Amino acid sequence: MNPYYRDKLAWVFGGSQGIGLAIGEELVKQGCRVRLWARRAELLLSEAARIRADWTSLDVSDYTATETAIQAALQSDGTPQFVFNCAGLALPGYLLDLSAVDLATMNEVNYLGTAYVCKAVLPALFEQRGGHIVNVSSLGGVMGLFGYTGYCASKYAVMGFSEALRREVSGYGIRVSALCPPNTRTPGLEQENLRKPPEVLAQEEKVQVLEAAQVARYLLKALPSNPFTVIPSFDGRLAHLLSRWAPGILNLFLKRPPAK
Ligand SMILES: NC(=O)c1ccc[n+]([C@@H]2O[C@H](COP(=O)([O-])OP(=O)(O)OC[C@H]3O[C@@H](n4cnc5c(N)ncnc54)[C@H](OP(=O)(O)O)[C@@H]3O)[C@@H](O)[C@H]2O)c1
Repeated sequence: MNPYYRDKLAWVFGGSQGIGLAIGEELVKQGCRVRLWARRAELLLSEAARIRADWTSLDVSDYTATETAIQAALQSDGTPQFVFNCAGLALPGYLLDLSAVDLATMNEVNYLGTAYVCKAVLPALFEQRGGHIVNVSSLGGVMGLFGYTGYCASKYAVMGFSEALRREVSGYGIRVSALCPPNTRTPGLEQENLRKPPEVLAQEEKVQVLEAAQVARYLLKALPSNPFTVIPSFDGRLAHLLSRWAPGILNLFLKRPPAK
C-alpha cells in the first residue's frame, strides 16, 4: 500500500463506472476510504457495495445540488484529501452534425461539473491546508481532434481551469493535477463509438485502447510527485509532445481525409 493514500479519504465524482470506478477500486486497495458520486443510484449502490465504498447520487452539472450534497458529505465524512473529477461524456460528430444541446451538454458536465465540484469543496481544503484535486481531461484536451470540436473545447476548458487553479492554490498546500487518458475501454467509450464518424473510427483502429484499471494504476503511481499533466500511454505522451513542438507532423496523421 502506498502511504500517500493509506487511511485517507477520497471522493470520486463520476465514480459508478469506467475510469472513475477503476480509480475508486484502486484507492480502496491502497487503504483509502472512498465515496463514489454519480447520478444513477442503483448502479452506485451495487458498485459501492462491491468495492466497499460509500456513495451519493448527484448531478454535477447542477451547482446548487452539488454544493448542498458536498456540504452534507463534509458533515458526515470530514474533509477529503483527494477529489477526483471523472464525471464526463464525449459526443463525437462533425460540427455541422452536432446539435446546440450536444455542445452545451459537454460543457455543462465536462467543464462546469468539474468547476462546480472544485468550487464547492475548496473552502474545506483551504481550511485543511491540503488536498489533491485531480480533474479528468483527455488527450483531446491537449490536442484538437477532428470529429471532436465540442468535446475538445470542453476538455481544453478543463485544462485551462486546472492550470489556473493549480497556480491559485499551490501556495496553500493544495495540489491540482489533470489526467489526460487516451481511448480507454469503458461503458462511456462504448456509447461514444456508436456515434463516431466512420473516418474517426478508421483512424482509431491503429490506436491502442487502454483498460480503465491500467489508467487508474498509472495515475495513482504518478500523483505523489504532484505532476500537472498525467498521460497514461506512451503513444499519448508522444502525440502530446508532437502537438506542442511539431504540430505539422501530427497534421499528417490527424487530419480529416478530404472529400473524394
Ligand atoms: N473512456 C475514454 O476513452 C476516455 C478518454 C479520455 C477521457 N475520458 C474522460 O474520462 C472520464 C470518464 O470517462 P469514462 O469513459 O469512464 O465514462 P463512463 O464510463 O461513461 O463513466 C462516466 C461516469 O460519470 C458519471 N456521470 C456522467 N454524467 C454525470 C453528471 N452529470 N453528474 C454526475 N455524474 C455523472 C456516470 O454515472 P451516471 O451516468 O450515473 O451519472 C459514470 O459514473 C470522462 O470525463 C471522459 O470524458 C474518457
